[in-house]
Amino acid sequence: MTVSLTTRLAKADGLSVAEAARVLAAGGLVAFPTETVYGLGADATNGRAVARLYEAKGRPAFNPLIAHVVDFKAAQALARFNTRAARLAKAFWPGPLTLVLPKAARCRVSDLATAGLDTIAVRVPDHTVARDVLAAFGKPVVAPSANRSGHVSPTRAEHVQADLAGRIDFIIDGGATPVGVESTIIACLEEPVLLRPGGLTRAAIEGVLKQKLAYAPSGVFGEAPLAPGMLSAHYAPRTKLRLNALRVAPGEALLAFAEPAEGAEGAEKVLNLSPRGNLIEAAANLFSHLRALDAAGASAIAVMPVPGEGLGEAINDRLARAAAR
Ligand code: TXA
Ligand code: MG
Repeated sequence: MTVSLTTRLAKADGLSVAEAARVLAAGGLVAFPTETVYGLGADATNGRAVARLYEAKGRPAFNPLIAHVVDFKAAQALARFNTRAARLAKAFWPGPLTLVLPKAARCRVSDLATAGLDTIAVRVPDHTVARDVLAAFGKPVVAPSANRSGHVSPTRAEHVQADLAGRIDFIIDGGATPVGVESTIIACLEEPVLLRPGGLTRAAIEGVLKQKLAYAPSGVFGEAPLAPGMLSAHYAPRTKLRLNALRVAPGEALLAFAEPAEGAEGAEKVLNLSPRGNLIEAAANLFSHLRALDAAGASAIAVMPVPGEGLGEAINDRLARAAAR
């Protein structure tokens, strides 16, 4: 498919939500804000729409998608919930948590969207625009992050435009997304396993489960790769990242956290994830700061150390992946 479409952009309101539902029903692609990052939505039950989505992102079709639904009841039509999965859903949905579960027999999500696996990733987003779109459309919507495959996830409508204009039908601009990193992914098949740290902290999940979570960062769990999308070269800006930088070298840009590192005055450009050292603020700023520093033409981006607790686990995961290219 040669993709050369007019991509319409509209502010989030009742009209644009209704338009989004019409575009989805017609097999089109709509980018919309969720609380984590912007998603690129397609009708999950329409194999052709899902194929278009893989094409627009340049995403390998063996990397399955998350089905977004409006509530727990709608999720139960797609997946089988064991006790622990139901407990997590009740505690954290709507919110930045994705559950990987056995696909329900009556699940109508296209096999292409689940890459032929017998499991499915499901999430109920906590953002008015996402929820309104899902409610208006009335069917599950698969939505990967609305970026070209391998790029940094979008936290603003302008980021989506920069990556996907001419390749998708419609973008709803709902401003900056509040959380800023993607959802936390937990596989709840037998023992719960953390597949991707994200916008919901490990501590919060362990608190509800009353157990420690095993972590499968590479996505390898038993025989089969469980989170096939967790390839290391992901979320990558073009400029090289230098992690745990304590001072800035000539020609470098600086991604600071709290008090800027030594040599910051001489940096090509400085952006601070959180001057006051707050991890929630840092997560919200991470991807837009990476995009802006990437555009600064620096020889490298020096990244100051970010503590690993709370949302720091997801921030450090994304930074490590961005540096691993
Ligand atoms: O916050 C988010 O989760 C955002 C917003 C738009 O909802 N979406 C998002 O989707 O990050 P995406 O496609 O960029 O990442 C989904 C991840 C991929 O790593 C994929 O491999 C994994 O979920 N995944 C999907 N289905 C899976 C399955 N059945 N088993 C294991 N991993 C799965
Ligand atoms: Mg993504």
